[in-house]
Amino acid sequence: MRNPLPFLIVLLVELSIHRVVSLCAIYLPQFDVSIQNRTSINKSDFPDANVRTVNLSHNLISNLSSDTFSSVTFVQSLDLSHNWITELSGDLLTFSHLVCLKISNNKLEQLPETFLQNQVFLEQLDLSHNNLGSIPHKLFDGNLFGLRVVDLSWNNMVTYQPWPLLLWRSVYFDLSYNKISTTANNLGRKKFTNSHGSDITVNLQFNNFSQWNDSFYEDLFGEDESIAEKFIFLIPDLRNNNWTCDCNFYNIATVLHNSFYLYAKTDNLKFKCYNPPHLRDKRVLYDVALNEFACNLTSDQNCLVQDNPYMNLVYVDCRSRGLTTMPRSLPLPNGRKLSLNFYGNSIRSLDNVEYADKIESLNLSRNAVQFIDGNAVKRMNNVIKELDLRQNSLKYLPKEINVLPFETTHVEDNPLSCDCNMTWMADWVNLAPGYRDKSVQCTDANGDGHLVTEVTERLLNCTNDILIAVSVSLGVLLVIIIIIVITAKRCPYETKVILFKIFRIHPRDKYVVDSNDHDMDNDAYISYDASDIHVQQWTREVLVKKLEGKKPSFKLFVPERNLGSGSEAELRAEAMEKSKRIIILLSAHYSKTQWCQFECNVAEAMSENQGRVLYILYDNMAVELSKQEPWKSRMNERRALSPDDKLFWSKLRYELPLKSKA
Ligand SMILES: *[C@@H]1O[C@H](CO)[C@@H](O)[C@H](O)[C@H]1NC(C)=O
Ligand SMILES: *[C@@H]1O[C@H](CO)[C@@H](O)[C@H](O)[C@H]1NC(C)=O
Ligand SMILES: *[C@@H]1O[C@H](CO)[C@@H](O)[C@H](O)[C@H]1NC(C)=O
Ligand SMILES: *[C@@H]1O[C@H](CO)[C@@H](O)[C@H](O)[C@H]1NC(C)=O
Ligand SMILES: *[C@@H]1O[C@H](CO)[C@@H](O)[C@H](O)[C@H]1NC(C)=O
Ligand SMILES: *[C@@H]1O[C@H](CO)[C@@H](O)[C@H](O)[C@H]1NC(C)=O
Ligand SMILES: *[C@@H]1O[C@H](CO)[C@@H](O)[C@H](O)[C@H]1NC(C)=O
Ligand SMILES: *[C@@H]1O[C@H](CO)[C@@H](O)[C@H](O)[C@H]1NC(C)=O
Ligand SMILES: *[C@@H]1O[C@H](CO)[C@@H](O)[C@H](O)[C@H]1NC(C)=O
Ligand SMILES: *[C@@H]1O[C@H](CO)[C@@H](O)[C@H](O)[C@H]1NC(C)=O
Repeated sequence: MRNPLPFLIVLLVELSIHRVVSLCAIYLPQFDVSIQNRTSINKSDFPDANVRTVNLSHNLISNLSSDTFSSVTFVQSLDLSHNWITELSGDLLTFSHLVCLKISNNKLEQLPETFLQNQVFLEQLDLSHNNLGSIPHKLFDGNLFGLRVVDLSWNNMVTYQPWPLLLWRSVYFDLSYNKISTTANNLGRKKFTNSHGSDITVNLQFNNFSQWNDSFYEDLFGEDESIAEKFIFLIPDLRNNNWTCDCNFYNIATVLHNSFYLYAKTDNLKFKCYNPPHLRDKRVLYDVALNEFACNLTSDQNCLVQDNPYMNLVYVDCRSRGLTTMPRSLPLPNGRKLSLNFYGNSIRSLDNVEYADKIESLNLSRNAVQFIDGNAVKRMNNVIKELDLRQNSLKYLPKEINVLPFETTHVEDNPLSCDCNMTWMADWVNLAPGYRDKSVQCTDANGDGHLVTEVTERLLNCTNDILIAVSVSLGVLLVIIIIIVITAKRCPYETKVILFKIFRIHPRDKYVVDSNDHDMDNDAYISYDASDIHVQQWTREVLVKKLEGKKPSFKLFVPERNLGSGSEAELRAEAMEKSKRIIILLSAHYSKTQWCQFECNVAEAMSENQGRVLYILYDNMAVELSKQEPWKSRMNERRALSPDDKLFWSKLRYELPLKSKA
């Protein structure tokens, strides 16, 4: 629309369609042996090496040896039509000025790949009325700069490939009267550009096309952006095929409905529907409304299940089919919603079916519904626009149904019961806009009818319900307390840790070291094997970060970090004395390192070391060590925690000195 180009195209298309082509002029001298009942021809039959027209049509030739034409090198027109030829050799055409080649009305089933190689002057090729089932991929890819007319009609081709796009000039490509039903592209090129501005006309009439497939665009035109433009440029003539106008046409019809090119005066776009019968002879792109492109999807219940891309809906018509339940699953193309009509069956419940959250409208009127699954209703919320439950056997409605607006939910003509668990309905009905009929009724225990809008708890004497609710909650509380008590008995230590973690209650006996008013700088001294790189990393990156970084944070003494200058042994011993806890991080080689041994001994000898020394078993090796001497007796009566323990960090914090949370 940006330029006057469309008008030019329209003109070009017009011209190309009415083009009458005859390129096979008679070039002299001529060698005409047509209509002679000959069964063979060989190179010694040619009288003159300069012949330019060779006419062998209407004979009985079935075989041509590859040297047949080796004595004539200037042939421009060769007519082999109306013979019995079944195959051709790849190097048969030994001349390089060929303009016209006719091999129609033979018995060819295939062609050699190199048959037309470098026939740069070839303008017309007639292969019609043969038994060709396919075309070699390379046949049209050999510098055929002049080719303008290709006749492949009346063959047995089943697949169309974008051969014309390999050619260099405007071309008329006739593939009518084949058996083509699909397209493909194995030509080794995906992106075709029409850089020569060619006008390519492909006749695909009278083939076996029936179902449109969007992959046809790419196969017909190559991968490119503007489908509509291509469609008109490389205009394929798809008329006189028995097209099925179903959902598969929806996309292309949408594209072309929005395109200017639809109004180009070309007949080629006027292909018609054959199926379904009610659309027969309507023109696909002009006469069929977008919402008529629908596909029948099958399903077991004998229902009509129809996919409608325009409405983005799958319609399911199961009226009066004797169903007793809703179908368990339904075919649902991507992103579609469902419109279901189950009117007049014997369905007993509205179940939480897998497609519940896809239902846009559900008609269950005139069934035997007694039960509605509240979860199904919850899943329908936000999507459903209409729910028809009239003429069923509903006594109770689940409270969840009040998420759906009453004005689009039809519950009339049901034996609704005026029950204490139904009093919410009054609000639900009253909230609906005024135009909605609110005369829905229920029947109480005495058989008296009431308007649902007037039913209150007081009217029905429902107060004792509150009593039940209170006693139920008390019962639940009791059970929780019992569970807590049992847990505390079974795992007293864990219970204490949890209480400490949640309520900051520290129910342990205070350790002596904490109660005395010592001048202690550090909360904990970490003794670990600094020569083991993993242990070192874990200490620095995990242990220290967790205990120092998170509140309440502890002050840790890590020798490799905090040690000042002086006698190392003295400094270490002094730091340990000033620490409220000594954490020994036992790992595989802990006991082999000099300082660990030293620190371990100092720790053992320290006064008030009840609760002061605790162990972390770093890995499985440490767990093994802890079962052997000397560790076994050292750990006796001391806490040994393992990072794999449940609640490890809580337990560790529990063991460390008490801190205020600030
Ligand atoms: C070819 O054969 C047909 C029938 O066999 C015969 O009628 C016709 O005369 C023959 N033509 C020539 C040129 O021999
Ligand atoms: C070529 O054809 C002639 C008759 O047209 C025949 O006499 C001759 O034997 C054939 N030569 C070969 C090599 O087939
Ligand atoms: C070859 O001869 C036949 C019969 O005489 C004729 O119909 C046909 O047009 C000729 N072919 C060419 C290319 O002239
Ligand atoms: C055609 O002729 C070639 C040699 O000229 C021979 O090898 C081949 O078998 C023949 N084919 C038929 C179908 O007669
Ligand atoms: C279309 O269908 C009709 C009836 O089945 C058949 O006669 C006709 O050949 C078909 N046309 C094509 C192009 O397949
Ligand atoms: C034509 O297509 C139909 C399906 O659409 C298929 O059943 C039939 O076999 C095809 N006919 C030919 C000759 O390929
Ligand atoms: C369309 O064609 C593609 C590729 O040829 C194929 O995978 C797909 O199944 C076809 N779709 C339909 C609806 O036939
Ligand atoms: C789908 O089925 C219905 C009823 O059987 C039929 O009327 C309609 O033509 C079918 N539509 C298509 C696209 O096959
Ligand atoms: C439900 O289906 C029945 C029968 O087709 C129809 O009469 C009724 O109006 C439908 N309900 C709604 C809400 O459309
Ligand atoms: C309401 O209470 C009745 C008993 O009075 C019970 O049968 C029914 O299932 C309850 N309905 C709902 C939705 O809770």
